[in-house]
Formats: sequence, C-alpha cells, structure tokens
Amino acid sequence: MTSDRNTPLFDRARAVIPGGVNSPVRAFKAVGGTPRFIQRAQGAYMWDADDRRYIDYIGSWGPMILGHGHPAVVEAVQKAVLEGFSFGAPTEREIELAEAILALVPSMEMVRLVSSGTEAAMSALRLARGATGRKHIIKFEGCYHGHADALLVKAGSGLATFGNPTSAGVPPEVVQHTLVLEYNNLEQLEEAFALHGADIACLMIEAIAGNMNFVRASAAFARRCRELCTQHGALLVFDEVMTGFRVGLHGAQGVLGITPDLTVLGKVIGGGMPLAAFGGPRKIMEQLAPLGPVYQAGTLSGNPVATACGLATLKEISKPGFYEALSLKTRALTEGLKAAAVAEGVPFSVDSEGGMFGFFLFDDLPQNYATVMSTDNARFNALFHGLLDRGVYIAPALYEAGFVSAAHSEEDIAATIAAAREIFKTLPTL
Ligand SMILES: Cc1ncc(COP(=O)(O)O)c(C=O)c1O
Repeated sequence: MTSDRNTPLFDRARAVIPGGVNSPVRAFKAVGGTPRFIQRAQGAYMWDADDRRYIDYIGSWGPMILGHGHPAVVEAVQKAVLEGFSFGAPTEREIELAEAILALVPSMEMVRLVSSGTEAAMSALRLARGATGRKHIIKFEGCYHGHADALLVKAGSGLATFGNPTSAGVPPEVVQHTLVLEYNNLEQLEEAFALHGADIACLMIEAIAGNMNFVRASAAFARRCRELCTQHGALLVFDEVMTGFRVGLHGAQGVLGITPDLTVLGKVIGGGMPLAAFGGPRKIMEQLAPLGPVYQAGTLSGNPVATACGLATLKEISKPGFYEALSLKTRALTEGLKAAAVAEGVPFSVDSEGGMFGFFLFDDLPQNYATVMSTDNARFNALFHGLLDRGVYIAPALYEAGFVSAAHSEEDIAATIAAAREIFKTLPTL
C-alpha cells in the first residue's frame, strides 16, 4: 500500500489552523480532495509528504520564475541571512532593489517596498485617494487585488449604486466608494466615468488578469481606461503583482504599451520571499510619509533577506533571451495541450504571455469573469485530479492562471501533455 501522510497532516492542520491552511485556495475546496503537504522543492519539481514528485505549474502562485532553489538566489539568501535577518533601519540593498525595479519599469520614478501584494495594493489605493483628494475607486469583477476591505467587493445592482462586500466583516460603508465593473465592457466603463468621473480617485486593474484564470484586457479597453483616467484626473493603477516580471521584463504595461500612473508589484520581485512594492511618478510618491500626508509603514518592509532574494532573481531574469526562452516553453506547453485536447474532441482554448498561461475547457477564450465561471467545473476537476495523480500539479481551481519557470524542461512539458491527453480521453462528455 502506498503511504498517505498528507491526510493525517491535513487532519492535524485542521485542528489548529482554520481549514488547515494559511491561504484559502490551498485547501482544494474548489476541486475536492486532500491538499498535498509539500516538504521540499527543487527546479521544476515539488515533493509532497509521501515523497511523491510533482511537476509544479503553480510556482508558489507566480514568484518562482527561475524554478525552486536557483543556485544564485540560494547563495544570495544564505549570504544575507548570515548578515542579519532584519534591522528596522535602511540598507544599501533596498536602494539597489529600488534602482533595479525602476530601471525595468519606466513608468515608475520612485518605489516603496512592502511585504505582500495585499499591502502594496491597499497602500497604492490610499495614495491614489490622498493624492487626488477623491474617494471613489473603480475595480473590475474577477480582478483580485489582495484582501484589503475596500477591494473585497462585488458589483452593486447598477452603475449608480456602488459595490457589496464579498466577505463577512467588511461593513457596506467601507465599500460604498468602490464601483465594480465588468472586465472588457467598454460601455460600462464609459458610463461609470460619465456618471462619477469627477469623484474617481483611481481605476485599478489587472491588465492581464490572472485571478479569473487568464483573461487579457483588449487593447481598446486598456487604452480607453488610460484615456478616461487622464481626461477625468483619475489615476490609472496597474496591479502587476502577478504580471510584473512574469509576462515580460516590463510587465503587462510593456506588453500593452500603456503607461499607468501607479504600479503595484509583488511575487517575482521577492523571488519567493515576502516582498512587494508600489510606485509611480515622483510627484505622487512624494505624498507618502515621511515626506507627505499619506501614511504607510512596515516593520519588515525592505527586509534584508527578502531584498537579497529579489535582487538575485531580478538579475537572472534580466539576462538577454530569458523571456524569449520562457515564452517558447510556455507556448510549447499550451500548444501541446491544445493539440491533445483537439485530438480527443475536447473543447479547449488557451492563451499565454511570457511565463504565465491559462486554458479553458471551452471553445473560445472568455473575456470576463462571468464567462470564465460558466466553463465546466466538473471536467476541470477531473482534469486537475487526473494530472495530480500523474504527478503534475496545476492550480486547484479553474479560475487560477498557471506558471511555467525557466527550470521546466522539454521532458517535463512532454510528460505533462502526455498525462493530459490520457485524461482528455476519459473526461465526462458534455
Ligand atoms: C493581482 C494580484 N494582486 C494582489 C495580490 C495579493 O498579493 P498577496 O497574496 O501577496 O497579498 C495577488 C495575489 O495573488 C494578485 O494576484
């Protein structure tokens, strides 16, 4: 009999941690079954508590773009650890990381380092409100910007009404200034600015959305977001926590050729350590404490070990040809999966940019959250568990994107496609 240490670990975890996990999606609630407890990872692989190996397409939900345990990153972190874990005082490494980020994201003239994407998005929002002196914000259904109160919100009953909380514990008053629109819906966008333009502090968007699987803002939609913000004096905020240094060296803004006012970063810039950032033009960033009236702070912000990890990661991904090679790998995977699905008569659509991809058991690529959520959950779950049983670990929910790292080999990708093809043969018919 094969050992099963994951189940007793999950039982033990559930006794002491709500749901057994420290972030809900890890609990496998959407797909059912027992989460795998990971004991170690190297390159493109993770090993669970039973020492079963998985090809990892989650990459810690994005950060592990070099794969796990890249030697240059490990060396930088080990060196930093010996120098001290945390000082609560400025360090030269923070300047180096800030300079490296600014050199790669030209829309940013200054950057503030924080510890999580949630903190970065929440702080960018406060800064946008402080800098404009306005209250209202626009977000889009299906975009996730972390779990700050004002951003846990779903659409109200119409454009004249603002959002409703999506979490208990968020009073309706707290989201009364958040307007939630449908992604890629130009008509709603125009109407929202026509109705509320003078009061909108910012529009926050994942310009390539990775929290409703993988859905791109159309070029026309992204352009119109920019134009309307400029026209009405609102700030355009690109949440690039997922896309930053993942879809390309210059993020989604580089792919789309659009300059946002503020950019929110996370994941890859920490290389797997708790590190995130937000930044933009000097004039806006100087509104932050200690220079300006917008308060923002953090005990562990710019942590010396995290910045060492982030810097070493940025150095590797800045090497010539990195994203070309990564994109080729990602496309080999997505095109292979599509060919396998087509061969077995399974509806399938797929998209990717750099090292980020999404697929749908659906003929056309969805353009918004409602369409993503209407794709077939039972078939996705069968695919997820079939792959997991065959040693391939994709995100445990159909509304999550996937990630390829520089460590994935041709053999890993071929093995993944072969495993998927076996499952496509057996998927329940529609
Ligand atoms: C686009 C985006 N923004 C913000 C966040 C929140 O980041 P964190 O989980 O580091 O708080 C995430 C997390 O997945 C994200 O994908």
